[in-house]
Amino acid sequence: MKYDVIVIGAGAAGLQCAAVAGARNKSVLVIDHAKRPGKKILISGGGRCNFTNYYIEPDKYICKNPHFCKSALSQYTQWDFIALVEKYKIAYHEKTLGQLFCDDSAKEIVAMLVSECTNNKVQFQYEANITSLEKESDAHFRISTNKGEFTSASVVVASGGLSMPKLGATPFAYKLAEQFGLEVLPTRAGLVPFTLNPELKEPLAQISGVSMSVSISTPSNAFKEDMLITHRGLSGPAVLQISSYWEPGGDVLIDMFPNGDFQAELDQAIENQPNVQLKTFLSQHFAKRFVETFLQILSMENLLLKQLIHKQREYLVKNVHEWAVKPSGTEGYRTAEVTLGGVNTDQLSSKTMEVKSCPGLYFIGESVDVTGWLGGYNFQWAWSSGYCAGMNAG
Ligand code: FDA
Repeated sequence: MKYDVIVIGAGAAGLQCAAVAGARNKSVLVIDHAKRPGKKILISGGGRCNFTNYYIEPDKYICKNPHFCKSALSQYTQWDFIALVEKYKIAYHEKTLGQLFCDDSAKEIVAMLVSECTNNKVQFQYEANITSLEKESDAHFRISTNKGEFTSASVVVASGGLSMPKLGATPFAYKLAEQFGLEVLPTRAGLVPFTLNPELKEPLAQISGVSMSVSISTPSNAFKEDMLITHRGLSGPAVLQISSYWEPGGDVLIDMFPNGDFQAELDQAIENQPNVQLKTFLSQHFAKRFVETFLQILSMENLLLKQLIHKQREYLVKNVHEWAVKPSGTEGYRTAEVTLGGVNTDQLSSKTMEVKSCPGLYFIGESVDVTGWLGGYNFQWAWSSGYCAGMNAG
């Protein structure tokens, strides 16, 4: 079968691209090895899909070339996707920090994208395993699969990154890029919980479930959001965000009193209530379960405020505002929301996502070295990059 455009991957970017190319009257086939489209969309945002963000800006994306994402994000903006969601009468709300979620279910987003495809006569081939993809001498692409052979003028690779292999993630895009002589920048898990060494993991595991508002930083970035202590280590939005900037082997600094001056609070308490237990004072500011464990970690249990010598005060204040934690690693692709790195953007047109050295071949979505913050930024990249390829392929 011959098509104008073959899209590999029926995820967020692939569905968007196929619908847009179909709307241009291109004949489009979407190939996926899964049984159904949009698996990640369905589980995203706790089943409600954080589909975009009011505050999309290029500086919320990590890429070797920080300018690369600008064109796509301005060609198809968050307002364009919101207009589509409204056209389908999908109810949504802002949860926090501009993050937009469906009121009911992520299923509505998948159904909307599939409708956009089928209304534009896009065809689907599910459970298709690609055995080879070649560019022929007549400039057409030939794709061999267990479901037959397909040819097309353009191929758009939208098969995603490595995160969550149990949802069908494969390195297909990277292998294909290498087959066509493209550079793939080293990949690693992003938006992922931290794991800890036993000396910290074990005491913290006993208070798993404790959540606190923190500011967490690496030398280059800081995020002020919630942190969650788990039985494996640290998670929650603040930790997921900073994980994308963390260099393995480095420390993260955690400010557990980000909205105040802990030194001043402590000095005042020592003056006004010297006979109060340190843990009682700390419990006025932090969860009681956390205080006991924190004091155990700092070896400062069973002290009255008046017993704190100068060095101990300094040590306590330093650890409250700048608790240096060295993660042992991350939970990896098993739980990561995204994959950092990928197809080097130097080799792609930022306007169309086409490979400069191979006309007709496009890479979009997570397969490309563009990774957004937590909060709808990654889906917006999928919609925007998918749109650009969809407007140009075929
Ligand atoms: P995506 O992974 O969506 O799609 C790739 C498709 O290619 C899949 O259908 C897969 O089956 C197919 N495929 C893979 N290999 C193949 C092969 N060899 N042959 C054929 N087909 C193949 N982002 C956000 O903005 N808001 C959110 O709320 C969330 N929440 C979230 C939760 C969880 C648990 C995860 C894991 C991720 C998120 N994300 C997110 C990130 C978001 O899901 C991600 O950025 C996009 O899905 C990327 O879209 P793509 O289309 O590039 O890949």
